[in-house]
Amino acid sequence: MLVTLEGLDGSGKTTVWEALSDRYPEAVFTHEPTDSWYGDAVNRAIDDDDADPLATLFLFTADHADHLSRVVRPALAEGNLVVSDRYADSRYAYQAASLADAEIQRPLEYIRGIHAAFTRPPDKTIYLDVDPETAAARSGATNKFEQAGYLAEVRANYERLIDADPNRFVRVDATQSPEAVLDSVEDVFDRLLADD
Ligand code: TYD
Repeated sequence: MLVTLEGLDGSGKTTVWEALSDRYPEAVFTHEPTDSWYGDAVNRAIDDDDADPLATLFLFTADHADHLSRVVRPALAEGNLVVSDRYADSRYAYQAASLADAEIQRPLEYIRGIHAAFTRPPDKTIYLDVDPETAAARSGATNKFEQAGYLAEVRANYERLIDADPNRFVRVDATQSPEAVLDSVEDVFDRLLADD
């Protein structure tokens, strides 16, 4: 089973992912951007205010393709539980917002289309829901993706994704305390693993 964690910057995803890795040591914990050289290229694009948004989309997508073939598919083939901190939905939500002013029509559908040919959709996605102002304040607004105005568009895209696939997503209120967020996510995991 493949479970992904999604949410705005500052939603507490990474803290949750770390706590889950202590609780489920037998599972495979991974993330996007990855630690590969593709991920290094992605991180350069994140830090470059002038990076072309379409080129950035393809860097992120290349990193995803490598992540799938090198980590996710082999781990699933061995029967492991795989938990990824960010995955394809981050592209659909973030890059669709970056491409909104580019010449691409319907960017969210376009990006989903690129992925559809090769990705492995998650079985469940935990969406840590936080308002854009809290997200920007918590993340320190240190890069172009962490600004409240941009994050409001990203959040609207996540809502579109949830509307389109309500059974895959589990929404957790990430404005709660970190302990309460963690308790909620662990409840979701316990239920998922019990049903599996
Ligand atoms: P990440 O390392 O997950 O940052 P954080 O832990 O702060 O959430 O992701 C780095 C940034 O890259 C973050 O602002 C979200 C953005 N991002 C995209 O725009 N598209 C993507 O596909 C991914 C995976 C991340």
